[in-house]
Amino acid sequence: MKIIKTISELKENRMSSKSFPLGLVPTMGALHEGHLSLAHSAIAACPEIIVSIFVNPTQFNDKNDLEKYPRTMEKDKDLLGTVLRKNDIIFAPEVHEIYPEEDKRKFSFGNLDNVMEALHRPGHFNGVAQIVSKLFSITEPDIAFFGMKDFQQLAVIKDLVRQMNSRIQIVSCPIIRENDGLAMSSRNALLEKHVREKAPVIFKTISEAAGMITSKDIPEIREFVAHKINSIRDFNVEYFEIADDVELIPVNAKRNMIPGRKYYCCIAVKAGKIRLIDNIEISVKM
Ligand code: PAJ
Repeated sequence: MKIIKTISELKENRMSSKSFPLGLVPTMGALHEGHLSLAHSAIAACPEIIVSIFVNPTQFNDKNDLEKYPRTMEKDKDLLGTVLRKNDIIFAPEVHEIYPEEDKRKFSFGNLDNVMEALHRPGHFNGVAQIVSKLFSITEPDIAFFGMKDFQQLAVIKDLVRQMNSRIQIVSCPIIRENDGLAMSSRNALLEKHVREKAPVIFKTISEAAGMITSKDIPEIREFVAHKINSIRDFNVEYFEIADDVELIPVNAKRNMIPGRKYYCCIAVKAGKIRLIDNIEISVKM
């Protein structure tokens, strides 16, 4: 694998190699099996891939979160070394390379700006759109791979591609979990011990909630989720919504669910000082 830090070097490299399709896996590093599963999917589909590692400052609405965000570049390179092929690329630019001047672009994503993560992390998806659009124009991939873990981010990126009239294909990859069910996340490393021990309750509870849809209506399911998680010390549900995967409009009653659409239980929990998100599809046909 090659490690490239500048845009000009990356462009030069692309001129000399014209493999098709080119795959892109954008990440912020602190890599785990979830990220690697995206790289595996990309490798299976593309003769050449680029894994980007860049902790994007513009998507952090909380400065403290940006400072605390784990940075493990040497370990990340070692991990990717076990997966990537000779001609694959790690693109790991510095902040000034990506943002030589302030990025003032404003994106709009309709309803996606008014629900769940967008309400709790103002400006977050604008920052995601800034970096992902830049990565798309720098690397010019044919296929880009994103995880279902960030359910709303995936919807935002699909909308971004539509707005850009881009032909980049977006592939969504399933959530990879720890053995106890906790969705893998770079932030898990920051959990205090007593919080980490209880953290599997999040997936367990949304799995139960997803199964309750046949017998219970949504207000009761919400109450169940809030009660189950909030009763644990230092755990607080920020939101729990049942939403479709296209417009992500939260539904408040079963009668408002549109037949034929896919619905997901989506949750954000403040676990100690760390914010965790997760989701699960509601598989029962209504
Ligand atoms: P990051 O949190 O590093 O995640 C990079 C990619 O890995 C995202 O597509 C995310 O959904 C996926 N991912 C994370 N945990 C996963 C898991 N447990 N299972 C499967 N996939 C998982 O998401 C970002 O970075 C940034 O917002 C980024 C898109 C790189 C823009 O800065």
